[in-house]
Amino acid sequence: MFSDRTNWKLTRNRFTKAWEQVRAARREVLDLTISNPTRAGFDYDQAAILAALQSPRAMDYDPQPKGLLEAREAVSGYYGEQHATTELDPEQLILTTSTSEGYSYVFRLLCNPGDEVLIPKPSYPLFEFLADLEDVKLVPYPLLYDHGWQIDFPSMPKAVSPRTRAIVVVHPNNPTGSYVKPNEQDMLNGFCTEHDLALVVDEVFLDYEGARERCGGTAGGYCRYIFVNECADSVGGADFARTAEEYAEAAS
Ligand SMILES: Cc1ncc(COP(=O)(O)O)c(C=O)c1O
Repeated sequence: MFSDRTNWKLTRNRFTKAWEQVRAARREVLDLTISNPTRAGFDYDQAAILAALQSPRAMDYDPQPKGLLEAREAVSGYYGEQHATTELDPEQLILTTSTSEGYSYVFRLLCNPGDEVLIPKPSYPLFEFLADLEDVKLVPYPLLYDHGWQIDFPSMPKAVSPRTRAIVVVHPNNPTGSYVKPNEQDMLNGFCTEHDLALVVDEVFLDYEGARERCGGTAGGYCRYIFVNECADSVGGADFARTAEEYAEAAS
């Protein structure tokens, strides 16, 4: 009855079973997987938030496909302040309800059914499901641990094929906490230019306390990159329409 695309193996794993047992026993648990900010004990300015919901402006229905311009301007301003080197035109930003929705747009934008995207291994397990939903095939490229985690560049040419459309980097990465070093960024840029690939830079953890200092800022220095971040769950791109030739010209 259902498509092959969602024919996932959904059996419960050991963690899920243990979690169910703990919940059934009503034991108190410190759940470090909570990602719902309203349940993580933050102190919000409730009065200001509730007052905003009562604003008469809320009665004006004004749908904007990329997200409200004001909100995109706020995101752009945030990047201007927090990532001083990044200039973002609000018109190049798209607000989504989650990174997952952002990925669905990115995969649809870049890939035809059966096209391939390179992803780091180990990394975020949900990528598999997000790619399946868009009929995209993920091909892993290894991160190796040798005095710290690093991209295994010698294995990259083996991972790439005529169907490869993009490389995903996660900066800093989940679960290794490693990040893209400046020399790796140069190599990625060169590799993407050579193979005509987009670079998708997932920086959802870059705004965490101390991460930016440790990672040296954004990893999105390539002209054909799309970044995915969670300051407001946005998908942005810099000069994405420029061609590899234009990049080579700009770089020379
Ligand atoms: C690499 C990576 N990207 C994105 C996300 C967040 O996804 P979403 O915004 O859909 O919850 C996570 C969450 O763990 C992640 O590890």
